[in-house]
Amino acid sequence: MLSTLTKPIAFWQQEYNTGNLQVDGQHQQLFEIVNALHDAVVTRKNVYTMQELLEALANHTTEHFQTEEALMMRVDYPDYDRHKQTHDCLLSKVDNLLLKFRDRNTEAVTTEITQFLTEWLAHHIKGEDKKMIQFFQNQ
Ligand SMILES: [Fe+2]
Repeated sequence: MLSTLTKPIAFWQQEYNTGNLQVDGQHQQLFEIVNALHDAVVTRKNVYTMQELLEALANHTTEHFQTEEALMMRVDYPDYDRHKQTHDCLLSKVDNLLLKFRDRNTEAVTTEITQFLTEWLAHHIKGEDKKMIQFFQNQ
């Protein structure tokens, strides 16, 4: 997906690796989707492409959060509730974006949104996810 993009926004960095291959793979996939979405905004791709990417974003985010939440439950992670709340908050933002997209089509998705998603992922991975995987690996 990345190779066809003209202007990626989300660049993977070494410091985003948590040490859990499944989680890291899912995070990288989310980066690719955000980059594809950003490219679709910048190059004004059609409504069908945009819809496909938004659905991929919603599906992968949901699946990824379920993976992390299952890991947290397996080790009785003490900060589970707070971590899950931040997941739920992002999921409701993605849901709202899909609703707006149904009303306003491609106009609903902007570079501010892809920037927000990039920053959210980087911040969440470096803080919450690394802490959680470290706890998981110490069990
Ligand atoms: Fe997380």
